[in-house]
Amino acid sequence: MLKIKNLHAGVENKKILKGINLEVNPGEVHAIMGPNGSGKSTLASVIAGKEEFNVSRGKILFEGEDIDEMSPEERAHNGIFLSFQYPVEIPGVSVTNFMKTAINESRKAKGEPDMPANQMLKLIREKAELLEIDRKFLSRSLNEGFSGGEKKRNEIFQMAMMQPKLGILDETDSGLDIDALRIVANGVNRLRSEDNAFVVITHYQRLLDYIVPDFVHVIHDGKIVKSGDKELALELEEKGYDWIKQEAVL
Ligand SMILES: Nc1ncnc2c1ncn2[C@@H]1O[C@H](COP(=O)(O)OP(=O)(O)OP(=O)(O)O)[C@@H](O)[C@H]1O
Ligand SMILES: [Mg+2]
Repeated sequence: MLKIKNLHAGVENKKILKGINLEVNPGEVHAIMGPNGSGKSTLASVIAGKEEFNVSRGKILFEGEDIDEMSPEERAHNGIFLSFQYPVEIPGVSVTNFMKTAINESRKAKGEPDMPANQMLKLIREKAELLEIDRKFLSRSLNEGFSGGEKKRNEIFQMAMMQPKLGILDETDSGLDIDALRIVANGVNRLRSEDNAFVVITHYQRLLDYIVPDFVHVIHDGKIVKSGDKELALELEEKGYDWIKQEAVL
């Protein structure tokens, strides 16, 4: 589904990613860990096509197609979802109405008609139930006065509604209390299927107790320096990032 080959990227005069190789297949969940400033969020942004970053070498293939020339919107319409993509506060626009618009815009981009209202309602109900989101939340103004946990819940809800092929979650555990963490993780687990894949960026092994990844990668200084299975996350928790940094130097 996603193939990243020798990706080098950065901002104007700063190199951030220095040769990332990553392959994500349908049905897989990959966790990305690594110290602050190692390039995790940059990698997510580059995959999603954020314009402030430029790719100087290497390429990203999504479903076999080089996505370099695609705008962030095109990537989203093709099935790449990045959490935090819509962190805006929109007073007067409810969570539900925002989702309706997002879904219909995506359909329009594909030349499809608006989703019939009853189908939309059914989808909203189904996904809200899946994520244990109550009705009152759905009628609130988007992100207005949302707590950290509510913002995260809303992001996962957006992802559930958009039904992406590839979901990228950055720091989904920050600011989540343990119950919210479990709801979010359960949401991801319930959204998991043979046809989609997730890349979960996190600092905490804790989240990976709930979302059990197939692969764990550690980024250090813009490169993946270690890959393994979920045991690697446990080892990191125990030994800290210094262990990786030392290994990276050797
Ligand atoms: N727009 C930008 N302009 C300048 N430097 C940037 C920009 N975005 C990221 N960087 C720098 O690139 C490096 C990697 O940042 P990035 O946000 O990818 O790290 P991270 O691994 O996500 O860290 P954290 O764990 O703290 O979230 C940092 O040194 C950061 O300051
Ligand atoms: Mg980050």
